[in-house]
Amino acid sequence: MKRSGVRLLSPAPFLLPLLFPLVDLPSCPRRAVHILSGADMLCVFRPQNTTMHRYAVVGHPIAHSRSPDIHRHFAQATAQALEYERLLAPLEGFAAVANEFFQGGGNGLNITAPFKADALAFADEASADASAANAANTLMRCDDGRFYADNTDGRGLLRDLTHNLGLALQGQRILLLGAGGAARGVLRPLLAAAPAQVWIANRSVERAQALAESVSSGGASEVQASGWDGVPVAPWDVVINATSAGLQGEVPPLAAGLTLGFGYDMLYSHDTTAFQGWVRERGAECADGWGMLVEQAAESFALWCGLRPDTTALLAQHP
Ligand code: ATR
Repeated sequence: MKRSGVRLLSPAPFLLPLLFPLVDLPSCPRRAVHILSGADMLCVFRPQNTTMHRYAVVGHPIAHSRSPDIHRHFAQATAQALEYERLLAPLEGFAAVANEFFQGGGNGLNITAPFKADALAFADEASADASAANAANTLMRCDDGRFYADNTDGRGLLRDLTHNLGLALQGQRILLLGAGGAARGVLRPLLAAAPAQVWIANRSVERAQALAESVSSGGASEVQASGWDGVPVAPWDVVINATSAGLQGEVPPLAAGLTLGFGYDMLYSHDTTAFQGWVRERGAECADGWGMLVEQAAESFALWCGLRPDTTALLAQHP
């Protein structure tokens, strides 16, 4: 199930708003986002929004971010007038940079490490995903001047797993590696897909247990936690790597006999990631996080612009 081998439907352009129509509406949206009518659908192919809107991604560091390229691609494909820049904020300076951006007329921000918790604190209102994650990767200035925070990482992962890679997660056994910000950010949307079980494994057992306890409120899925040693080797349908071990070329030290049906590394790389190599040695396919990056961006774009862009072309442009 290699991404390069995945065939994606490429629907007729006028069907796109029907196939990707609805933005999950916050109570503080920029304007009423609705199912697009026939007239609106035509607007997708003319300059629908000729007023220049300003967006940016904030982080430290930030030079590596692909978000400007991705959002400019979406803007061009959906005929939105949009400027998107990178903003480097000092480590203690997220709020000052965000305030300056919005006071200067900015419409929305993406937020990356290490400011996702600061972004949530900056907002007046937050989505359930952002609240559950204790972190936001998207900020939007509402029409009334307040700020709305969302976390689109988990929805991006879900979209990649289910729509792009064709996995059905309902009733499946998922092993989630890691219990830091990346794991917390995707856990709620993962559980919304109704897997039979999500097992959270982490180097620090206490952190895994705390994350499991934060969601153990009688949902459809069994949620358990352990260190690496406690992970059952019995087949896992999907193993998702949400640790940052790959940044050092490392793989969590799971039991050699562990078997799995499919692996997903939330990191992406031009080369095969360490975790992808580990999974493939066990005879399973493993995607990297490029699709998640593209899809979380599409979710942010949809929140800001009221239109979910087609991601097909960008998915094929894996670095
Ligand atoms: P992020 O926002 O990227 O999730 P984080 O909150 O610092 O960053 O979390 C990093 C995660 O990767 C944690 O689960 C961490 O394990 P601990 O909670 O025990 O620190 C995990 N991690 C980092 N380096 C690792 C390594 N070399 N091997 C295994 N796990 C590692």
